[in-house]
Amino acid sequence: MSARLDGTSAVGVLGAGAMGTGIAQVVATHGHRVVVVDTTLEALTRSREAVERALRREVEKGRLDAGRAGEILARIEFAGRSGADGMDGFRDCGLVIEAVVERLDVKRESFAALERVVADDCVLATNTSSLSISSIASACERPARVLGVHFFNPATVMPLVEIIPGVATAPEVVERARALVDAWGKTTVVAADTPGFIVNRIARPFYGESLRVLEEGIADAPTIDWAMREIGGFRMGPFELMDFIGHDVNFAVTKSVFEGFFFDPRYRPSLTQQRLVEAGRLGRKSGQGFYDYRDGAAKPEPTTDRRLGEALVDRVVAMLINEAADAVLLRIATPRDVDLAMTKGVNYPKGLLAWADELGAERVWGRLVALQAEYGEDRYRPSPLLKRMAREGGRFF
Ligand code: NAI
Repeated sequence: MSARLDGTSAVGVLGAGAMGTGIAQVVATHGHRVVVVDTTLEALTRSREAVERALRREVEKGRLDAGRAGEILARIEFAGRSGADGMDGFRDCGLVIEAVVERLDVKRESFAALERVVADDCVLATNTSSLSISSIASACERPARVLGVHFFNPATVMPLVEIIPGVATAPEVVERARALVDAWGKTTVVAADTPGFIVNRIARPFYGESLRVLEEGIADAPTIDWAMREIGGFRMGPFELMDFIGHDVNFAVTKSVFEGFFFDPRYRPSLTQQRLVEAGRLGRKSGQGFYDYRDGAAKPEPTTDRRLGEALVDRVVAMLINEAADAVLLRIATPRDVDLAMTKGVNYPKGLLAWADELGAERVWGRLVALQAEYGEDRYRPSPLLKRMAREGGRFF
């Protein structure tokens, strides 16, 4: 039994939650027949309704004509429950993208079950944001066909997709999957199978260093947010963004990256954030986080002191650039992909390495050396690549 992997293949989506639903819509929009499977019928119903709603909005905004919206919806089959019979619909798929809950045991079981149904050459992709691709793939008889294809939320809007080969992934599988995702109008980058891949690794100091500045009482949350937005050019400040993402989710990612790097102090989670999670102040969704979203709550004002703001931005950006430089040094991704990932996956105002070139490696390195000398913490150790660039006057581009 064999299956094609091209613009005409049927594509399977396992898990009809927020991500699976968005992915199904993207894939169907690009002409594929899509089969969506979930363990619960409620999830499938919600998923269909969400796609219908999203398409209707596109029609109302004049971005899609009604006929085409109908065609897209008709291409998606919300097939039924997973398990032996539910997955039958995946039989002729050239690609199946898994987006079930973020649990290694569930993903490994799902991959073993998928392999019993699909054709021998069907490519199997996981949308995991934090688990090891190699570990998921090792549940399969043919790990060479397994890779990470990591979309960002919401999948219909965010252009970035990280493509992650595991230890056993065949290079040809990486190329074919990448070409297909490119054809869906996405921006693909290739990342090594390491904790947080590109975006979730490099973005850690955006939250972590801002939390540290807050914890030291250097500035309050509204002031740090103001500085990062108005001076740094970021779309949202770190505290507004953490409130938006949800502290439970953001804290879990930080913790998983920290543990994944064998407790490297650079990624140490914040006790302040942990306490918020413990208190149930998860951000917007629970009504309170760093800010109060309940009716009538006043929005606190920042201290708009430009010199203070510049110092804050300088410190956080130096830490972000350091992370980006280390990702290049350790061959997590190429400089081009590192910069693409941060601009297309999390809307950074510019690529961090381009930013380093603009500021000069020597200045960024100097900032980190000063922080390390001040605190005596390994958290601030400068990347050897940044050091080399500073010494040689090198540039990333
Ligand atoms: P979700 O909780 O919205 O959806 C998960 C779905 O999987 C649910 O409908 C559930 O019923 C279903 N499910 C659970 N076990 C299953 C099984 N054995 N077989 C079939 N379906 C099963 O989760 P979400 O947010 O969509 O995340 C899915 C995956 O995508 C996770 O691996 C997550 O880490 C990853 N991801 C999430 C992002 C986000 O911002 N939510 C961003 C990028 C990746």
